[in-house]
Amino acid sequence: MGIMPGKKTAIEWSEEFSVGISKFDDQHKQIIKMINDLYDSLTDKGEDSRERMAEIAARLCDYTYTHFLAEEVEMYRHHYPQYESHKDNHDKLTSMARDFMVRIQSSDAGLKKICIELIATLSAWLKVHIKETDKRYTEFLKGKVGE
Ligand SMILES: [Fe+2]
Repeated sequence: MGIMPGKKTAIEWSEEFSVGISKFDDQHKQIIKMINDLYDSLTDKGEDSRERMAEIAARLCDYTYTHFLAEEVEMYRHHYPQYESHKDNHDKLTSMARDFMVRIQSSDAGLKKICIELIATLSAWLKVHIKETDKRYTEFLKGKVGE
């Protein structure tokens, strides 16, 4: 697995990622779209391509964090028994994303390399997290979360 040169997308959503709650499926699709936007921006040329890349990376990290909060709010208010461990898992990725943002903002050289690393790390993490951690809340939250 990893980023294949010449491939059009870094990651694609498929039914195997469905958590059965359309609000969260839509947010997962949006994260995947933003990862692919960042992937696209790697080959951008032109003066502002670096700023664009950094901006897309920042938006991706922000959106991912917002999505985690949305899941956590629903898990918390419905007293989901595995709330703490799920939140711990989110916190780990949030702190990784924060480290990436610090590196992106502080390094002019190597920006592309850092973004490739971010894409690979987030894609791999997301696949495992959705399939193994998110899917555990399906039974519990289905029908409770407003669409
Ligand atoms: Fe989650």
